[in-house]
Amino acid sequence: MKQTILITGGAGFIGSHVVRLFVQKYPELQVVNLDKLTYAGNLENLSDIELKSNYTFVRGDVVDKDFINELFNMYNFDGVIHLAAESHVDRSISNPLEFVETNILGTVNLLNAARSIWKNNMNGKRFYHISTDEVYGTLGQTGLFTEETSYDPRSPYSASKASSDHLVRAYYHTYDLPIVLSNCSNNYGSHQFPEKLIPLCINNIFHKKTLPIYGDGKYTRDWLWVNDHARAIETIYFTGVIGETYNIGGHNEWKNIDLVELLCDIMDEELGRPKGDSRQLIRFVKDRQGHDRRYAIDASKIAKDLGWEPSVTFQEGLRESVRWYLGNHEWLNNVTSGSYQKYYEAQYKD
Ligand code: NAD
Ligand code: DAU
Repeated sequence: MKQTILITGGAGFIGSHVVRLFVQKYPELQVVNLDKLTYAGNLENLSDIELKSNYTFVRGDVVDKDFINELFNMYNFDGVIHLAAESHVDRSISNPLEFVETNILGTVNLLNAARSIWKNNMNGKRFYHISTDEVYGTLGQTGLFTEETSYDPRSPYSASKASSDHLVRAYYHTYDLPIVLSNCSNNYGSHQFPEKLIPLCINNIFHKKTLPIYGDGKYTRDWLWVNDHARAIETIYFTGVIGETYNIGGHNEWKNIDLVELLCDIMDEELGRPKGDSRQLIRFVKDRQGHDRRYAIDASKIAKDLGWEPSVTFQEGLRESVRWYLGNHEWLNNVTSGSYQKYYEAQYKD
């Protein structure tokens, strides 16, 4: 019998790459994409695979317990890859409750539904929870987050993700639910909503708008190409050990200001603008509240145990991403109209 897998948040940035990979590479799997289609969810991200016979889209909210239970009873899923979340730190600072509801309650609803349909036979079943390196808090100038690093979340977003991670592990220890988890660093690539640093700057450079850099610009992130994250998710879903956690990262730390300068230079080359032109758009603005100074991942466990490594250099991945955004103006225009304009004005008003 064909296996059926639920991917939540599949219309978002990372989720759409994961859905595409699974639908195209595994025709023997039936993929159900459950997404509420919030501001961050966009079915245009999947227009190339939406007619595939092994793909089904369902619009719904993970917070709606009755709906989730019905969905699990209807499809009798063999596996779950849970990506649906409120994912933007700045939005969590202005509206924490939405993050608590979706990220914590939504995850518990999925755990309960999986537990209920798998209670008599957990063999071959798998609940895979996608999380973030932000749960570990912030690093000083040295050191890396390992799977053993204590949790120390510092924003409403990371606190809600940390809480969901704890619940997923609690269901493994308490109910033997076959879970696996991963915590990944910052992703970049095509189809990312332009409220996050890289697509926001690409869009602003194109329109010759200022580039807002929070604080002193020396905050550091470890960037990974989204397609490499999707490959890591594939690897962990099929070969990760039940009950285990895997850190995923790009061995690729950049201070925000250095990254934005690199992006300006790539954009100038791609747009045929004089070298240095776009750097003039950079502005240092008011810092994010509780801004974590540095994230960096030790991804040696997934490399050693499962054989996963990033496949592209940052320069290659970033240039390919820039070309994707420049070649997809319609996508950018569609997502930056309407409510995005209001968000942008409120976020950058000072
Ligand atoms: P995103 O914001 O682009 O997409 C989230 C998706 O979830 C959207 O399609 C949205 O419509 C959907 N969604 C939101 N609330 C929902 C609800 N209540 N019910 C059903 N669907 C809902 O996020 P992303 O950047 O693709 O992140 C996906 C996952 O990966 C998240 O769990 C995030 O915490 C995690 N993560 C992201 C990064 C990153 O750099 N973006 C890094 C590590 C981990
Ligand atoms: O580390 C993984 C996390 O990466 C994920 O869990 C989150 O879902 C994802 O949004 C991302 O969080 P960040 O807060 O690191 O990403 P963001 O793109 O919002 O910001 C990256 C860095 O750039 C951060 O130090 C804040 C800074 N920044 C961001 C924006 C939007 C600016 O300086 N200016 C900006 O306008």
